[in-house]
Amino acid sequence: MTSGGRIGISLAVCVSGLLYGGIVQGESESKVLPGDPARGKTLFVRNCAGCHGAAGGGDGYRLLGPDPANLTSPSTSRKSDAELLKTIHNGKPNMPAWKENLSESQSRDVLAYVRTLGK
Ligand code: HEC
Repeated sequence: MTSGGRIGISLAVCVSGLLYGGIVQGESESKVLPGDPARGKTLFVRNCAGCHGAAGGGDGYRLLGPDPANLTSPSTSRKSDAELLKTIHNGKPNMPAWKENLSESQSRDVLAYVRTLGK
């Protein structure tokens, strides 16, 4: 009777693995693992929306110097994951560096959310 239970469990693990695999987007160009846009949204609202705007349009508050990037623009969408992750990690003038505050996987989550803004 216990063996039947075990088969049921391994089947469930297998099916959920397939479902999860199906969600991963087919972005072949990058070697970076895809992040989770839902988790990224929470991080974005908390850390990024103040400058980049709730919808990423660059309409948050402005400092002297470069304005927040419009993350929905083609100029951002065209950039590679590696390039945008570098900006998120290291910052730019008026763009804080996040590598101390966001883990590697959180940075990818937030980037996955940024990718949904441009469409
Ligand atoms: C204090 C304001 C501020 C905050 C907070 C901020 N940014 Fe920025 N961000 C900027 C500015 C300003 C630029 C443009 C810098 C430049 O072009 O020199 C920028 C640029 C970027 C770029 C590069 C866009 C491109 O096309 O190259 C990305 C990606 C980005 N930010 C993501 C984020 C994410 C993700 C967060 C939150 C974790 C965040 N930013 C938080 C101000 C901010």
